[in-house]
Amino acid sequence: MCGIVGYIGQNQAAPILIEGLKKLEYRGYDSSGIAVQNHGLCVIKTKGRLADLEQKVNEVGGVEGSVGIGHTRWATHGAPSDLNSHPHSSMNGRISVVHNGIIENYLPLKAELEEKGYHFVSDTDTEVIAQLFDAYYNGDMVDTLIQVIGKIRGSYALGILCSEKPDEMIAVRKDSPMLVGLSEEGNFIASDIPALLEYTKDYYLLNDNEIVVLKKDSIKILDLQKNEIQKEVYHVTWDLSAAEKGGYDYFMMKEIMEQPKSFQATISPRIVDGEIHLDDIKYTDEDIQKIHRIHMVACGSAWHAAIVGKYVIEDYARIPVEVDLASEFRYRNPILDKDDICIVISQSGETADTLAALREAKRQGIRILSIVNVVGSSIARESDDVLYTWAGPEIAVATTKGYSTQVALMYLIALKFAQARGKLSDGQVHALVEEIQNIPAKIEQLLALQDELKALADANANAKDVFVIGRGIDYAVALESSLKLKEISYIHSEAYAAGELKHGTISLIEEGTLVIAIATQDALYEKLLSNVKEVKARGAYVLALAKEGNTEIEKVADKVIYIPQIHDKFTASLDVIPMQIFSYYTAVARGCDVDMPRNLAKSVTVE
Ligand code: G6P
Repeated sequence: MCGIVGYIGQNQAAPILIEGLKKLEYRGYDSSGIAVQNHGLCVIKTKGRLADLEQKVNEVGGVEGSVGIGHTRWATHGAPSDLNSHPHSSMNGRISVVHNGIIENYLPLKAELEEKGYHFVSDTDTEVIAQLFDAYYNGDMVDTLIQVIGKIRGSYALGILCSEKPDEMIAVRKDSPMLVGLSEEGNFIASDIPALLEYTKDYYLLNDNEIVVLKKDSIKILDLQKNEIQKEVYHVTWDLSAAEKGGYDYFMMKEIMEQPKSFQATISPRIVDGEIHLDDIKYTDEDIQKIHRIHMVACGSAWHAAIVGKYVIEDYARIPVEVDLASEFRYRNPILDKDDICIVISQSGETADTLAALREAKRQGIRILSIVNVVGSSIARESDDVLYTWAGPEIAVATTKGYSTQVALMYLIALKFAQARGKLSDGQVHALVEEIQNIPAKIEQLLALQDELKALADANANAKDVFVIGRGIDYAVALESSLKLKEISYIHSEAYAAGELKHGTISLIEEGTLVIAIATQDALYEKLLSNVKEVKARGAYVLALAKEGNTEIEKVADKVIYIPQIHDKFTASLDVIPMQIFSYYTAVARGCDVDMPRNLAKSVTVE
């Protein structure tokens, strides 16, 4: 979603802003712009890609100045257009603002300002902030910002410049991510670490409504009463190469290929001599025994990982698990018991709905355990306990290694909780842990099927509709597979619990419709074979996924991809791999922008 970069220092700002914005492209955007202090504020912005912005900057011969803010916009209020792009300015050009988030009460504020004679040129909520800031401006940026914060309602990360303060930049955040980078050559604000990495690895994290005043050689962080806050400096532990394509055409393929490594990195620090140690969380065996129910909340693929978690945790630990979409949970007045816990799953740790669901659970007083990839993200910081997935930075909008590592943690939680509650013996846990430890090598075997999967994708790239079916955990993977395919290839695709197909959806199957049947649950294999026969009888072309050795399916399916033998409960980690690769090559064959699918954003920081 929208990306912010700001710089104040000794160097030219414009190239730093544009390079930084390029590193945030993955968040998804439709327009971009910069504002640079240059004897007044010079604002250049445009609809389209960053290349369009660069061209516009070059057309005016570049912009001189060492203080600036930049933005990539993902449209919410008003269509993508030059005028709706950020930065937005006050009518007199004195103030420039970049904003990530949504100002909910912008319409009444706009009406008030219009009465005072302010004219608006865009359809955005952000322009209101620029005008309001100007209306309140009294020569002191911080005082003015405090007044503005008192008036606006909603979520925001803001970077603000004032032409009368050419040596200062201020910023603030609420419910939207923002980091502050520090270096010898200047200071930065940014929505995410990759924008900073070329210049610094040191950064501060801001809490809600902390105001940061940046000068070229100082950073001051203040609360709303203007008390200075001392902050811990965080240090990024990975380098730029982790956020670069490394020879691959797309980040998505690089990230698919990284899965054995990231799965391993997520499980290995937590397995010692065949025992699971979740030392990063403060749960004692008694705490685990007391759990009455688990509520899992998440969005998108993280929600699919939660569904896998439900199957595995309920089966092994015998704890009831409810899985909710975060956007539903937050408004459905959920019933939570004091001995319930909430497991919040999020790759980015910044998804607005997931964060709101977390806060609802917290408000009702239950303990929050989050599973997050981004260290120090909002969800991580607001949770009682955090288990990090050690996937490394994930750039492609469509998650792959983020999902796989979330699923890995589902297994560890299930086994740990089962053992603590006496549902599995030590010997059983050891055997299952060994199975989990073998998963990275089995993922490697599946990654070697690239050519076969590419050929299949090429052959099916013109499909109009795809149905993905499965039972049990295979159904959970069908949901993730179907999402992967549709989000990057734009082919209409639906996932169905195989047994449910005949209650309506089977009427859509006609000659040649592609059905992907995931048939990797030994316990449900025969049932799934019957479902495959049902769709074949209606003319479907069936591509099946089965375990090595279960060859009977060849008699009914048109094509079978085999996954290595694995315990039924852990199939999700293997099934998803060929489905990711198949989706990837389908999108490539259709000429889609794999890493940045239309209309989507990596980190959805608005409701
Ligand atoms: C976006 C991404 C998905 C992701 C979802 C939840 O829609 O495109 O890939 O699964 O957000 O994101 P989170 O960061 O909370 O896991």
